Amino acid sequence: MSELHIFNHPLIAHKLSIMRQTQTGSKDFRELLNEIAMLMGYEVTRDLPLEDYEIETPMEKMVAKRISGKKLAIVPILRAGLGMVDGLLKLVPVAKVGHIGLYRDPETHKPVEYYFKMPEDIKNRIVIVVDPMLATGGSAIDAIAMLKKRGVTHIRFMCLVAAPEGVQALREAHPDVDIFAAALDRQLNGNKYILPGLGDAGDRIFGTK
Ligand code: PRP
Ligand code: URA
Repeated sequence: MSELHIFNHPLIAHKLSIMRQTQTGSKDFRELLNEIAMLMGYEVTRDLPLEDYEIETPMEKMVAKRISGKKLAIVPILRAGLGMVDGLLKLVPVAKVGHIGLYRDPETHKPVEYYFKMPEDIKNRIVIVVDPMLATGGSAIDAIAMLKKRGVTHIRFMCLVAAPEGVQALREAHPDVDIFAAALDRQLNGNKYILPGLGDAGDRIFGTK
C-alpha cells in the first residue's frame, strides 16, 4: 500500500488557513498556494537518489553530492494544478513540465479529458502529479492511469486538501503512488466538494465565478 504523508508544519497550516477563508482574494490565494507547494516540495523530493562527484572549492578538491538517475517532471492537472507549478519549479528549476487537462462533469462528477502533453522522455522521469484538491479521487486516478499507459513507473501525487474518500479511492486504484497532502479534511458533501475545504480551487486561483 502507498504511503500517505499529511504535513504537520506550522507554516503550511498557517498559510492554508488563510487560503480557506472566503475573503481571501485570487492574488493572495495564488501566492500562498505556490508558497505551500514549495514547502511541500522539500518533503516530496526527500528520497531523490544522490551520487558522488568531484568538485573543486577555492580551498581544495572534494567529493560532493548531486541528484542522480531519473530526473523530475511536474505534471499539473489543469486548471487548478497550474497553481502549484511555480512553487515546485523554484526548488527544481530544471524539472520538465507536462500538462493533463481534466474537468469534473458537474452532473456525474466524473473527470473528462481534454488535454494531454508530456515531455518526450516522460517515462524515464520521476513524475510529481499536482492538483490542489483530491475529492472523489477520480481526476487523480485517471491522470495517473494516463501516465502509466505511457510507460511512467515512478509517480507521486501532491495536493493541498484531501478528502478521506479520495485518499481511499486513489490508494486502491494506484497502490504504488505515495500521496502528499497539506491537510486531510472531514468529508465530501452531496456535490462532491470537500468539507470544510476551500471551495472551488480553480475558480479561486483564476478569479472565475
Ligand atoms: C477540481 C480539482 C481536481 C478535481 C478534484 O478540478 O482541481 O482536479 O476537481 O475532484 P475529484 O477528486 O473528485 O476528481 P475541476 O474539475 O473543478 O476543474 P478546474 O481545475 O478546471 O477548475
Ligand atoms: N474541486 C474543487 O475545486 N474543490 C472541491 O472541494 C472539490 C473538487
